[in-house]
Amino acid sequence: MTVSVENLCFSYDKRLPVLDRISFSASRGEFIGIFGPNGGGKTTLLQLLLGLINPTSGSVQLLGHSPSEVSDKVGYVPQVRRFDKQFPISVLEVVLQGCLSDHRGWGSFNETAKKRAFSALEKVGMQDKANTAFGTLSGGQIQRTLIARALVSKPEILLLDEATVGIDPEALQEILQFLIGLKGEITIFMVTHNLQAIAAEMDRLLCINRELSTYSPKQVCEHFALGLYHPRLGGTHD
Ligand SMILES: Nc1ncnc2c1ncn2[C@@H]1O[C@H](COP(=O)(O)OP(=O)(O)OP(=O)(O)O)[C@@H](O)[C@H]1O
Ligand SMILES: [Mg+2]
Repeated sequence: MTVSVENLCFSYDKRLPVLDRISFSASRGEFIGIFGPNGGGKTTLLQLLLGLINPTSGSVQLLGHSPSEVSDKVGYVPQVRRFDKQFPISVLEVVLQGCLSDHRGWGSFNETAKKRAFSALEKVGMQDKANTAFGTLSGGQIQRTLIARALVSKPEILLLDEATVGIDPEALQEILQFLIGLKGEITIFMVTHNLQAIAAEMDRLLCINRELSTYSPKQVCEHFALGLYHPRLGGTHD
């Protein structure tokens, strides 16, 4: 299993658990959606998968290791709420940060790293903006740049936290098609509120609301067809 989460519980300080007895696994190349109400614990779950925080109890294993041991195999697109418009670096430099693990010492990045960064920008349709100041980008362009940064180190697992927020419909379709094209190769966990656009392409959907319920794409799509939105929609309660 690429990802194996067993009986995971997590609380910040000594408060009520934010995540309670979460168990799921994913094999290589699965495309898994994560949804749920605000404050349900989605970002917290991704941070546990990244090893940025540790479970209160239970376990998380990625590629048979603890998350911090394989952090170079994991690409992460963080949830962006606000961005410092003064951020004084170019789009290419932001993407190059994704190569930091191969970057030995100070000085400029080598040509190989730059080529990889360019090709990641091409994949998200941002190659023309390589030399633009990151702080001047639109919300959607910021997200596309951060996706390129997550991809540049060729991760085996990709975690996206609401990476499609603020993207115009055309760019959204491009990015979704691009992510769908990674199916079978990279294991993707994508937190999204944009379920209607993508649920049908996913292998499984996890609803995180302190506890986990699992849905098939069919269940979620039927739910939309009824014009409804939001749990509880009779998924499998794990
Ligand atoms: N660093 C923190 N310290 C204490 N509590 C936190 C911290 N981060 C998040 N929380 C709390 O944990 C709960 C889950 O938060 P989390 O950010 O994981 O939710 P989410 O599902 O990602 O929400 P959203 O849809 O708004 O992004 C919330 O009640 C939140 O207030
Ligand atoms: Mg969140």
